[in-house]
Amino acid sequence: MASDLHHLEQDIWHDLQTALQEAEHPFRTGTLGTRGLDDFVALRTVVLRKVDADVRALWCHSDGRAAKVQELKHNPVVSWLFWDAERKIQLRLGGNATLHRQGEEVDRLWTETSRASRKDYLLPHAPATPLERPEAGTPAHLRGTLPSEEESEKGREHFVGIETRIQFIDWLQLSREGHRRAQFRYQNGEPHRQWVSP
Ligand SMILES: Cc1cc2nc3c(=O)[nH]c(=O)nc-3n(C[C@H](O)[C@H](O)[C@H](O)COP(=O)(O)O)c2cc1C
Repeated sequence: MASDLHHLEQDIWHDLQTALQEAEHPFRTGTLGTRGLDDFVALRTVVLRKVDADVRALWCHSDGRAAKVQELKHNPVVSWLFWDAERKIQLRLGGNATLHRQGEEVDRLWTETSRASRKDYLLPHAPATPLERPEAGTPAHLRGTLPSEEESEKGREHFVGIETRIQFIDWLQLSREGHRRAQFRYQNGEPHRQWVSP
């Protein structure tokens, strides 16, 4: 039974890595939860950008001016949520986040970022800035088109990599045969793996 759990754990990390290669993979986007500055839980969709199973880390990237980045400076505790509707698998992961503005990893993430995504980092106003008109968030010359490679580089100053070191996984698979649920804890040394009641 313990070895089943070990295989399941390996499958979970493998699945997350596969999502990086497949745009349509259900784990390609996840819900990232932080503690909001107003004390409510804050949730948003993000694209999974890097998975490092060796150190059990999930990465996404964001605009350094975004609320989530400010929230993480106050409280680094985050949750990730994924749902695979076809295989009926829910994955919940929790851990601590580190913000990376500089460094090899974040440079690599930036290099891999398409011009379409870089465009988000070129917007003149910080996310959630009040606007007179909905279209006012995007400069006129960028509406309906992509920035040049050269212009896209200006977005780098706002680009932040968010690395979550995972400490806890809750895996749930729904099935007519009987739901199955497992938990994995990484806090102290050797992982603790446990089947639990769904
Ligand atoms: C499909 C989808 C993918 C998204 N991916 C990201 C992402 O990778 N990084 C990001 O910062 N925001 C992403 N967003 C936007 C966020 O959901 C959110 O609206 C924005 O980051 C502001 O969130 P905040 O105010 O909580 O920081 C995505 C939105 C959608 C709908």
